[in-house]
Amino acid sequence: MLNVALPKGRIGKKVREIFSAIGYECEEPTPDDRRLVIENSDGTIRYFLVKPSDVGIYVERGAADIGVVGKDTLVETEPDVYELLDLDIGKCNMCVCVKDGYTEDKDSVLRVATKYPHIAGAYYKSLNREIEIIKLSGSIELAPLLGLSDVIVDIVETGTTLRENHLHPETKILPISARLIANKSSYRFKSEEIENITAKIKELKK
Ligand code: PRP
Repeated sequence: MLNVALPKGRIGKKVREIFSAIGYECEEPTPDDRRLVIENSDGTIRYFLVKPSDVGIYVERGAADIGVVGKDTLVETEPDVYELLDLDIGKCNMCVCVKDGYTEDKDSVLRVATKYPHIAGAYYKSLNREIEIIKLSGSIELAPLLGLSDVIVDIVETGTTLRENHLHPETKILPISARLIANKSSYRFKSEEIENITAKIKELKK
């Protein structure tokens, strides 16, 4: 039995479709279905539906053998796991974004609102720019609108959220996509199953 941590939300459906297409069916939960563990009918695989930002923790600690996680979370939290494959889904960019018409005051400390303090901190450190991080959990775009921050560091996919809030991307920091990851000891002890899944997904991508 292989335990798989799947991200709920945006990319969840695409990930389930990939696993179903390679023969590891993952039933789609109905809107009323609150189950967090879904086992396939032949008992070979068990899916855990977890918050995308928690996938790395489940896999690092061995609660799940493999998982699918965004490169943003991998770079931000650096879980001790193997990164096996780029799934080429959930593509977006980590960007510095600003309010339309904004100009930076280079003489003052830059206030940066973000869900990704590590990524934002490393980026501005590389520029030698002094910043203050304002850590938020969501709706980051509100921060510059309300004067809570000067800029935001956040994910931009379609750009719609930015446009609808009179913001725009200023600099791309990092391209993001979903990655297949594995627990290090599972990768040794369940190598056949994990390599089989990796090979089948690679084949599917061709
Ligand atoms: C993410 C991100 C942006 C939005 C970008 O938020 O933080 O707000 O998606 O997508 P777009 O470019 O397609 O508009 P998410 O939907 O995960 O919600 P959150 O605000 O709770 O973080």
